[in-house]
Amino acid sequence: MNSLGRIFRITIFGESHGKQIGITIDGCPPGIGVAEDDFIADLNRRKPGQFGTTARTEEDIPNIVSGIYNGFTTGTPITILFENKNTNSKDYSNIEHYRPGHADFTASCKYLNYNDIRGGGHFSGRLTTGLVAAGVIAKKIIPKINIISKIIEIGGQKQWEEILATTIKSSDSIGGLIECTIQNVPIAMGEPFFDSVESVLAHAIFSIPAVKGIEFGSGFESAKMKGSEHNDIYIDKTGKTLTNNAGGINGGLTNGNDIIFRVAIKPTPSIFKTQQTYNFKLDKITNLEIHGRHDSCIALRIPVVIEAVTAVVMADFFLQR
Ligand SMILES: Cc1cc2nc3c(=O)[nH]c(=O)nc-3n(C[C@H](O)[C@H](O)[C@H](O)COP(=O)(O)O)c2cc1C
Repeated sequence: MNSLGRIFRITIFGESHGKQIGITIDGCPPGIGVAEDDFIADLNRRKPGQFGTTARTEEDIPNIVSGIYNGFTTGTPITILFENKNTNSKDYSNIEHYRPGHADFTASCKYLNYNDIRGGGHFSGRLTTGLVAAGVIAKKIIPKINIISKIIEIGGQKQWEEILATTIKSSDSIGGLIECTIQNVPIAMGEPFFDSVESVLAHAIFSIPAVKGIEFGSGFESAKMKGSEHNDIYIDKTGKTLTNNAGGINGGLTNGNDIIFRVAIKPTPSIFKTQQTYNFKLDKITNLEIHGRHDSCIALRIPVVIEAVTAVVMADFFLQR
């Protein structure tokens, strides 16, 4: 339910304005060196601060409460906690609307209104801190595999400064596109059907809030191509190909070329522009003014989260071999 992975298995927990959020990692091999400082670089990449991100700042100091002893993993479950200190829950008292695009409505249906709505509760991007922490450990299991994610478009633009600035000025939010490349991938990882590398990566990447699409290699463009254009011609006995329309995967198995995929991130649902939507207290459609602190562009913060989740998946495949 709230876990992912077969051997390297992560379990996510917490709420945005609760005491703590975190991650438990089961199935991590013993003897991997882990220090608190190892988490700093990736956690800092996830933090807000740049133009277009939320004003909420958290220290994000990892509190490792189990599974690491004398600087090494023990092989037993690792739990890492992060405190929520910079919360401002008064913005979430007196709620009369479900925010369009957010999980407020679906969560209240699933959890019979017992869900913690403050800051989006369990559905907050805040929980991705734990994913990034798990990624730091996963990357240590697969040190030869390089995972690099970068923003390639915001609002459909490759140069996005202007569109980002005008969007923020108009109290709106904007989506973006991230490209992830996995280099030095061993050949024949994955399974042919349900645990194909595409299936498992897509499953994991779609777990990140605000992800709305993923395509591998030439992706949706392949529907417009001919076989003679799409086929990746082999150029040596290692399976290296001239082009990479397959995105590094054939038959669900890694083919040794780079795995390449792109992820569509939707615009932030909480916008400061007035919206007209159903008011459940008054039983009619009224104006909704959202207050609080929000990212205007989630894509700005997500590349490191995509890398982390990808590392978790690749570490799990690696341990299954
Ligand atoms: C890093 C990150 C930051 C986010 N920041 C915000 C935010 O400031 N405000 C907001 O409304 N949603 C934010 N979201 C998106 C919501 O968490 C997400 O849209 C919501 O849970 C609904 O899930 P869905 O978009 O996957 O359907 C963020 C997501 C991530 C991954």
